Amino acid sequence: MSPTWRPDSWRQLKAEQQPDWPDPKALAETFTNLSQFPPLVFAGEVLSLKQHLARVAEGKAFLLQGGDCAESFGDFTANAIRDKLKVLLQMAVILTYGARKPVVKVGRIAGQFAKPRSSPMETQNGVSLPSFRGESVNDPYFSEEARQPDPKRLERAYFQSASTLNLLRAFTEGGFADLHRVQMWNQDFVAKSPQGQRYAHLADQLSDALRFMEIIGIDSRTTPVLRQVEYFTSHEALILEFEQALTRVDSITGDYFDCSAHMLWIGERTRQLDGAHVEFLRGVRNPLGCKIGPQATADDILGLCDRLNPNNEAGRLTLITRFGHNKIAGVLPSLIRKVHQEGRQVIWSCDPMHGNTQTVKEFKTRPFDNILSEIKQFFSIHKAEGTIPGGVHFELTGEDVTECLGGSMEVLPENLRERYETTCDPRLNATQGLDMAYLIAELMQS
Ligand code: PEP
Ligand code: CO
Repeated sequence: MSPTWRPDSWRQLKAEQQPDWPDPKALAETFTNLSQFPPLVFAGEVLSLKQHLARVAEGKAFLLQGGDCAESFGDFTANAIRDKLKVLLQMAVILTYGARKPVVKVGRIAGQFAKPRSSPMETQNGVSLPSFRGESVNDPYFSEEARQPDPKRLERAYFQSASTLNLLRAFTEGGFADLHRVQMWNQDFVAKSPQGQRYAHLADQLSDALRFMEIIGIDSRTTPVLRQVEYFTSHEALILEFEQALTRVDSITGDYFDCSAHMLWIGERTRQLDGAHVEFLRGVRNPLGCKIGPQATADDILGLCDRLNPNNEAGRLTLITRFGHNKIAGVLPSLIRKVHQEGRQVIWSCDPMHGNTQTVKEFKTRPFDNILSEIKQFFSIHKAEGTIPGGVHFELTGEDVTECLGGSMEVLPENLRERYETTCDPRLNATQGLDMAYLIAELMQS
């Protein structure tokens, strides 16, 4: 760890998972451009998220984080953005109503482009090319030219993020997210499913309550919280050139904020204590996440707490555990005990996706039952330890894709090829997302 942090002090350390940019001059030009572009998010919003997360740490709110594994340049339409927002809002309503707790909504969106890979090269039919690293780096198409990292893609990712955020802000502040429209978030294909019908029933109850409140003078006009939703953005802070270029000093606090998203997380493959990612993120004031896989030791986690949250602030650090349904029971209890014995403030959030990936009929998929099993164990382990299951982290989309097996509108192995659209990992579709929300609401009540 360097003694003094600067936005570029990470450059002295080893940065895992960075692309092999072929042209340093082009990269430097992109870095200069990005450094001059306006921030995507603002310090005040980031601090507001941190306050909400401090409530999560106390068990007084619940964190719902979700979205694409990787956003793409191709799937960039108003409808796709709207549908991703809809499913997260629906899940949040189910959880708020079921668990009687406010839900902090954080999208994996408006910047979730870059991907870490298990191998730097991919081989197909005897030809080896650089792996696809997300559309802000290279193109998924398997050719020499497409796989060449191109820094101009970072600028395109910036503009797509700005445009996505613009629409999200319009939706969340301009009436679309008004609780009076809770019925309209149910999309047609969802409304036909059992969980869509169950949601419609809940929405009716909510509408009744809102009508009662109107009679006594509480409506969207007098009470903005009914009309607007606080919705935050997040992504994996992977490409440090991009993150540094968007880091700014806040004129009010004098602190550095990474203004590419409200919350940033460090991936399982880049969380080395002496690595560049931990170094960069320790110096920005944003709330941080860190993925924790089954190999992590208690000392690794305590080291991360020391570096990323030296003042032990509530809401600063979320540990996003991703062990797999067959490993969580063997790993999580002792980690929880050590972290709490040492008095460290962390939010425990469960990513039940990344430890449960398997290949079925040539498709990378995740069985719904294994995802659910990891979530159930996460809740029961926290209950047994007397600690707080603070949140969940999903890869999901608002569309009717067939990427994860199972759910109450069961996706079977032979259905996988029908609408398998992800550019990276398999996501829950909208009905599977609602299934999950109902099951989590039940777990939170028990
Ligand atoms: C991800 O969240 O898409 C991801 C790559 O996760 P992890 O770092 O946990 O493997
Ligand atoms: Co993923």
